[in-house]
Amino acid sequence: MTETAVLTAEIRRLRDARRAVLLAHNYQRPEVQDAADFTGDSLELARRAATTDAEVIVFCGVTFMAETAKILSPERTVLLPRMDASCPMAEMTDLAGLRKLKAEHPGAVVAAYVNSTAEVKAESDVCVTSANAVRIVQRLEGDTVIFLPDRNLASWVARFTDKKIIPWPGFCYVHEQFTAADAVEAKRLHPDAVLMVHPECRADVADLADEVLSTSGMLKFAAESGSRRFIVGTEQGILHRLKKENPGKEFLSLGPVRTCLTMKKTRLEDVRDSLKHMRHEITLPVPLMNRARTALERMLSYA
Ligand code: 13P
Ligand code: SF4
Repeated sequence: MTETAVLTAEIRRLRDARRAVLLAHNYQRPEVQDAADFTGDSLELARRAATTDAEVIVFCGVTFMAETAKILSPERTVLLPRMDASCPMAEMTDLAGLRKLKAEHPGAVVAAYVNSTAEVKAESDVCVTSANAVRIVQRLEGDTVIFLPDRNLASWVARFTDKKIIPWPGFCYVHEQFTAADAVEAKRLHPDAVLMVHPECRADVADLADEVLSTSGMLKFAAESGSRRFIVGTEQGILHRLKKENPGKEFLSLGPVRTCLTMKKTRLEDVRDSLKHMRHEITLPVPLMNRARTALERMLSYA
């Protein structure tokens, strides 16, 4: 047996003993995705967390995702195998700045991308993910929307609505690295390929894309498309599922592969230790969770 197979078997034994479920984001290491019970995008993972009957949720992802799981399932124990797996974009918002923006735009609806802190969610009217942001903003009442923290997702959403979008100037350092020059060159080299990019990419990259999709949107699109070759503008972890689920199709990174360092912190050893020692448990103040849950449940109710 390989070391990976031994660790995976140990994780599954501990999972069953703890009555746990393992959720993994599409950017996790391939072996962590393979060990998980369910791998998905932020929206799918939030839905799973909200509906699971497991006693323990082990969240292989980053902090805001585990916090979202805890807020949606407060009676469950939620474990994040690596406490240092944060999302730099989620840390780019601050409560004082958001309150100032709200005061400057009274009556504006606040839409928080799930890649945000629990405090920011609690101060917001509705949450969105990359998979539902366009649809939810279109359906919101009111003509002004404060959108945070991602300026690129905000600009993508703004293309599909007449509402005034007031963006927060945050961004994802991984997706910012994809350039329009990468897109032009990839299309020149592979004119037959479909260029799929994540809406966290810059607007000039989105302009050149054939499809702008969340990570699970890419998986669905690639499975249903008649094309044989795809250029992928998002974090490299998604390539594992794209290739595994679509044998016979080819998936190339847009330019050099781009890596989210905190998504890659979680190793199988961390997942095993998390289950063995019941660490690291996500705890949040109940009043904060209650306020943040309102924005998250509003998002889920739009589905
Ligand atoms: P998805 O919801 O599309 O999986 O994106 C999450 C994320 O962190 C993108 O950087
Ligand atoms: Fe955050 Fe970007 Fe990593 Fe996604 S890829 S978790 S937005 S830093």
